[in-house]
Amino acid sequence: MAKLVGAFASSHAPLMARAWESVGPERLASIKKTFAEMGRRFKEAKPDVLVVISPDHWVNFFINNLPSVCICVGETHEGPPEPWMKDVPYKSFPGHPGLGMHLAEQAFKQGFEPSLCYHLQIDHGIAIPLWRMGIPPTPVIVPIIVNTVEPPLVTLRRSADWGRFIRRAIDSYPEDLRVVLMATGGLSHSIGEPDMGRIYEEFDLECLEIMRSGNVEALVGFLERNIESAGNGAAEIRNWLMAHSAVNGRGFDLIGYHPYPEWYVGNAFGSWNVSAA
Ligand SMILES: [Fe+2]
Repeated sequence: MAKLVGAFASSHAPLMARAWESVGPERLASIKKTFAEMGRRFKEAKPDVLVVISPDHWVNFFINNLPSVCICVGETHEGPPEPWMKDVPYKSFPGHPGLGMHLAEQAFKQGFEPSLCYHLQIDHGIAIPLWRMGIPPTPVIVPIIVNTVEPPLVTLRRSADWGRFIRRAIDSYPEDLRVVLMATGGLSHSIGEPDMGRIYEEFDLECLEIMRSGNVEALVGFLERNIESAGNGAAEIRNWLMAHSAVNGRGFDLIGYHPYPEWYVGNAFGSWNVSAA
């Protein structure tokens, strides 16, 4: 049977690709250390496949066709098409159609109705964390794309349900696979709004503290009350909530928090001890 052997969450600020050195040597060294530790834990888990929950930033989908949740079931996916991601070493990603289709079939059987994608262009949301964590060679991935860019969005409560479902579906896959789950996005940030560039540190720190305390319901409640006031980009924290729920809210360890205004994002990075879940 498949086994969850690791769970991670990572911000994916585009300026981590476009303006990596703009934060100055000291803060750059600090975030490099965080990414190195993320990468070390990721490699230590020895995954066969990565299930990654991430947004699509208008690369694959637009308002003419905008899935709320899309499970990627294809054999291959393309590397990032953004011109400013040209130095990223991922040109294509092998998929895992078996696990992808199992997730999709189980979703329908268990009361969820995802869209499917057989060939995704992997954008910076997935590629930046893997790149900065130093993950070569290209891991086998099953992306789950969640709309966090254009409301109406999947509710926070439903996001927690999705997380529990993803865990059940991974656990019920009959092949012996070591599976790592990763959520990308957040924390507070604002894109294209009057408060663009503002980071809501108080919100971020409380959010991280609730995750550490290990209570999924408390996280849902906190986000329901506050997510709207932390910038439109904070909607991506749904992905963190899904991962937190997938591990039953236990074992979160903050590896680094880097609220760098130059990158517009309250960048946070952590992993869950899945043996505690
Ligand atoms: Fe994003």
